[in-house]
Amino acid sequence: MIYDLIVIGGGPAGYRAAESAGRRGMKVLVFEKNRLGGVCLNEGCIPTKAMLYSAKLYEGAKKGESYGVYVTQAHLGHGAVLERKSLVVHVLGEGINAAMKTAGVEVIRESAKINCMVKEGFEVCGGINTYTAKNVLIASGSGPIIPPIKGVQEALNAGFIITSKELLKLKLVPERLAIVGGGVIGLELAVYFASAGSKVTVIEMMDHIGGNLDNEIGLILKKNLEKRGIQFCLKAQVTEVEDGIIRFVQEDETSKITADKVLLSVGRCPSTQGIGLERLGIKTELGAIQTDQNMQTAVKGVYAAGDVTGGMMLAHKAYREADIAVNHMCEILDEADYTAIPSVIYTIPEVASAGVTVEEAEKKGINVVVRKLSMNYSGRYFAENKNGDGMIKIVVDNESRRLIGVHMIGSYASEIIQSAVILIQAKLTVEEIKRFVFPHPTVCEIIRDAVCLF
Ligand code: NAI
Repeated sequence: MIYDLIVIGGGPAGYRAAESAGRRGMKVLVFEKNRLGGVCLNEGCIPTKAMLYSAKLYEGAKKGESYGVYVTQAHLGHGAVLERKSLVVHVLGEGINAAMKTAGVEVIRESAKINCMVKEGFEVCGGINTYTAKNVLIASGSGPIIPPIKGVQEALNAGFIITSKELLKLKLVPERLAIVGGGVIGLELAVYFASAGSKVTVIEMMDHIGGNLDNEIGLILKKNLEKRGIQFCLKAQVTEVEDGIIRFVQEDETSKITADKVLLSVGRCPSTQGIGLERLGIKTELGAIQTDQNMQTAVKGVYAAGDVTGGMMLAHKAYREADIAVNHMCEILDEADYTAIPSVIYTIPEVASAGVTVEEAEKKGINVVVRKLSMNYSGRYFAENKNGDGMIKIVVDNESRRLIGVHMIGSYASEIIQSAVILIQAKLTVEEIKRFVFPHPTVCEIIRDAVCLF
């Protein structure tokens, strides 16, 4: 039998492409060596969100008195949180299995590798068998970067250093948790484990946290996390790890901290080994598979989507790239557009952004006008947040008057950002945006209020 599509990897890019192609009547086969859902469902986004929701409820209960709610003894039961997290992951995993069945997609639990090009398309080897397909989609995802720092590999082997995958399964909350890397993973897990009782220290080599986050919003976030007891060592370069100690250099001074566990979260890199790229001559750049705007590699009929293509390693970017690839296979016009891919950090408070920051706009030579507004301007935000310091910052192209960036910190930011995505991607001007109606009272209104400052 000749498949229309073989998908290598069953994470967000892979299962999305398989389902969408299957629903369109294509004969689809997915290879997944672990469980469908990939890192996002099984050991990343979803388990973290389940755990952070428990932390949020717990923190809310502790602050209840300010809102007239009296809780005698709030306690975060880590074991119960882990159990609930596993159930959430299991149920959603079953949902993906069911979606594959409904779409008529065949799933094989094996590692797969492209063998060669054949007359009908491509031959793919999975387990001990070979299969043929007209198209192949590589959606093999990414893995954690392990930096070549003295002692890191030994500490990983000994279980002193772990990655987010192991930390999300840790049965006992470490008394002292050191986190190397103050990016998205580091910050989200810092928040959960600080609520669960760990003394958390984040070691970050840059002078700020949250990567490309708007500078001012990054500072508000840092202040909030410090209030939760999280400590930060910025501009700190880890030099050595040994027996419960992490040594680092900070502004030419050598320091060390002791910890019971260390989370290594210094970024992820595309997983491109062992899938047969070299057999078709598909090249990588900075580790990522290069594609055109249709997600097609240099080899016609071979596509790539998700983390394996580099850039923003986000499940929603993977979904979109999967859709583009399948549309191209079905000869439906569609192209990748990365101007408004949203980013969210699910800390307490949440941070979300879409489009360019002021710093990025300036680097690109765009003449911008910026407006900022306290979230307290929103009636709902003020009603729900005592002493809240949430903020929205919008970036507008001074020439076209189009909205090109929205950055916010505060409750519901993760949900609200979608409005910003639409406004930016649709290339709307501030005058056009002012005509939209936002429900009142919602925190979402803050976007309209900020635009009305123009
Ligand atoms: P990241 O790129 O977000 O952050 C890594 C941080 O580590 C950076 O701030 C970097 O400066 C720092 N760093 C690098 N080397 C270091 C060293 N030797 N010592 C100290 N600091 C060092 O990467 P992260 O947090 O590992 O996340 C990986 C990927 O997963 C990201 O692409 C992210 O987008 C994705 N992700 C997204 C989530 C979300 O959307 N909420 C949640 C979790 C992960």
